Order: sequence, then structure tokens, then C-alpha cells
Amino acid sequence: MAQDDNDGTEIVAAGSSSHGQEVAASPGTAVIPADGFENPGFPEHRKRVTDLDPKKAKSAERGVYTLFYLSIVGSVWAIAAYMLFPMESGDVFDVRLNNLFFGLGVALALLAIGFGAVHWAKALMHDVELADERHPVRGSEETRAAAVKVFQDADQESGFTRRSAIRNSLIGALVVFPLPAVVLFRGFAPQDQNPVELLSHTMWAEGTRLTLDPSGVPIKASDVTIGSAFHVIPEGLNELEHHKLEEKAKAAVLLMRLNPEELNETADRADWSYQGIVAYSKICTHVGCPVALYEQHTHHLLCPCHQSQFDVANHCEVIFGPAKRPLPQLPIAVDDEGYLVAQSDFTEPVGPSFWERH
Ligand code: FES
Repeated sequence: MAQDDNDGTEIVAAGSSSHGQEVAASPGTAVIPADGFENPGFPEHRKRVTDLDPKKAKSAERGVYTLFYLSIVGSVWAIAAYMLFPMESGDVFDVRLNNLFFGLGVALALLAIGFGAVHWAKALMHDVELADERHPVRGSEETRAAAVKVFQDADQESGFTRRSAIRNSLIGALVVFPLPAVVLFRGFAPQDQNPVELLSHTMWAEGTRLTLDPSGVPIKASDVTIGSAFHVIPEGLNELEHHKLEEKAKAAVLLMRLNPEELNETADRADWSYQGIVAYSKICTHVGCPVALYEQHTHHLLCPCHQSQFDVANHCEVIFGPAKRPLPQLPIAVDDEGYLVAQSDFTEPVGPSFWERH
């Protein structure tokens, strides 16, 4: 208890009385601030045209079910397209056709459902505004105690802790259960070759010409003007009868020509380019997407998957994003006829940084 100097009234701490007895909590001498700003409340409710005009509501209803029927058409088309454009041949063109038409069907089916649902909700479902007060997320002590009790009872009833042989064998079964999937995926790789070894090499070899993707037309150094960029595959890829896609997925290259003065080449790679023309793996070192976007002005390559950026002027070092290492460079030269050729295969594995562990 204390005496206020100014007017002689008692100042009493919250939660106690002047006679030392406990009382209900009160603000005492605390300063209770007013709300920072007033609750603005809901704006005046405006009815939608579909609430006011039954004809408009009917038309919105027609729009919604048309979209849902459209979705059915998309799904049926996707199934039909999968059969009409088979990709068994493994030919790149067939795979593209299959993916294109199947994808269009699925996209139509999903988009139509989405638009239909949104249209339904916005135009026809009840238009009422509700306020939901915030409440503590943490459960009450009783709820928490009840949850613990549920686990304890379950443990007692099942004997999970008591019957250790059953418990341990169950844990073992769950650990072993995913192994068939590992065996299955291992089976996808060729059986007689080491997949790590297989993936470490590409079709590029000394003297292999750089050709345009997808036509396979060889590229002359004189065709590559400063500022241009080409999608490139190794000569002979289109003639492969088997595993064409797998080989392309490893060997795809981006070819660019910069002003030689803008290239900062290290001494050990000075002869890997030709008059400002450089070739780098197109397979992103993050998780393997094709790095397909080239910004001529800044010499940056962008991977659209997770926005990794590589600086072509500086050996494609990573300047942004989750990739952890530069894109591998393909050493190139020019043959007697003026065509661009590889000096060798890549000198390091292409693709995700997984390879750094091998
Ligand atoms: S795959 Fe290129 S940034 Fe992720």
C-alpha cells in the first residue's frame, strides 16, 4: 500500500486489497491503452447481379455447368490423345506429339474445373460475410492431458512398449518395406553396366560436330554471330535407334558467342572456346532442368525451374539460386571445313550436384 502524494488517495496493486485479502484481478494502476485503431467493420454489402436478376443467375448457372462439361471433354480427349499419339517408337517427334495433346487435354480438364468452381462460388453461392474471432491456438490443459491419455491408453491396450518383440519386428518391417521400390528403380538402369559410369559420359567426343537441335544441321563458326545463342546436340544423335532421349538428356548444349573481350577465361581453359564462341551443358546443376533462357545483354543463363543463374562470361559460375556448381563447359574448336567440333567429352559429369559425391 502507498500514499499518493497529490491527492492522498491510496494506490493499490492489482490483485490485492488494502487489507491483504485476494480480490479478483483488476487493472490497478496499470495504464490500459486504447485500441491502436478502430474496427472499421464491414463495408456496406452490395448485392451481385445474380442476386438481383434471376436471368443473370440462370446464365451464370449455365456457365458453370458448361465449364464442368468442358472438363469432361478435356479428360476424355487426354485419354484419346494418349492412344492416338503413341510414343512407343521412342522417336522425339512422337513423344512431343503425345505430350502436347495429352497435356492439352489434362490442362483443359483441370482449368475448366477450377474456373467452374470459382465462377460458382463467386456468382451463385450464398454471399454472406462472416467474422471469425481469433482464438488461442494452444489447446486447454484438459485437452492436452486428454491427448496424452489417449496415447497412454493406446500403449497400454496394444502393449506396444511391453511387447518388445512385436514392436521391433514391426519397425523392421516398415524399414524394409521401401526396399522393393529401390530394387525396382535400380532395374530401370541397364543391368550389365554401372549406371554411375554410364551417366558420367555423353556422346561428345573429339571431332564430334555441334549440330542444331532438333534438325541435326552442323553449325559453322561463321554462322554464330555475336550475341546469338543456339540449342545444340551432337552430330549423329538423330540417327540413334535406341536411347536417343537418354543421350540427348545428357549431351544437350547451349552455344553462345560473346565479344571475346568480355570473356574472362582462366588460363587452363583459354583454348576451350573459339573467337568468343563458348559451349556449356544445358543441364542445370541443381536438379537437372534444361537451362533454356539466355539474356544476351548480361550474358546470364537462367534456369526456369528454380531460378538459378549462371554467368557465361565467367565460366558459367552460379550467381544466383540453388545450383551449387557452374555448368560444365564443352571444349570446342573448328575443323578444316569451318564447322564447330568438340575437342573431347565434358571433363566433368553433367547434371545435378549429386555427381560431386562420385
Ligand atoms: S533445376 Fe535449375 S534451378 Fe533447379
